[in-house]
Amino acid sequence: MHKVLPIFISLIFTVIVLQACQEVSDQVVVTEQKVVTKPLNPNGDSELALLMRKMFADVERIKEQVQNGEAVTVKVDHKKILSAHATEPAKAASPEFKTWGTAYLKGIETLINSSPENAEFAYTSLISSCMNCHQAFCPGPIVRIKKLTLPK
Ligand code: HEC
Repeated sequence: MHKVLPIFISLIFTVIVLQACQEVSDQVVVTEQKVVTKPLNPNGDSELALLMRKMFADVERIKEQVQNGEAVTVKVDHKKILSAHATEPAKAASPEFKTWGTAYLKGIETLINSSPENAEFAYTSLISSCMNCHQAFCPGPIVRIKKLTLPK
């Protein structure tokens, strides 16, 4: 058993780490003796993951404002992206994450301040900054983020 235990623990760990960035509803952990179905995240979702869901909803709403030529309003505190606790804290503490996060926040500022003629361009740049960070750190949700792009 003492040989199996470290493998089991590392499997569980892998599941916890992977789940946030991959859109799977259940993970099946297979050990030599048995199959255990684990809930999505035994520790609950990270602060950053919850923030991302709120950001997604906010940007979905903003997309409509841009499409309707309305002034862009923001309802979520996107700045928390730089401080929210992540499933993998080392990722969010890295300089690259801070760089993408800062670029994203600039994108929000630019969009809020852009004229109606420039709003579509500013919006598209904002979605690119979501994509850039996700390509580097968390590819799972990219398919979902693509749905936020404006129709051509
Ligand atoms: C600076 C990097 C960065 C930027 C910018 C960013 N994300 Fe994320 N996103 C992440 C990371 C890292 C996670 C994983 C969070 C965790 O598990 O702690 C994540 C998770 C998510 C999730 C999954 C949340 C869940 O349910 O687990 C969605 C959806 C998401 N992001 C959408 C977006 C959208 C939409 C944007 C732009 C409006 C965006 N992200 C911008 C880094 C970023």
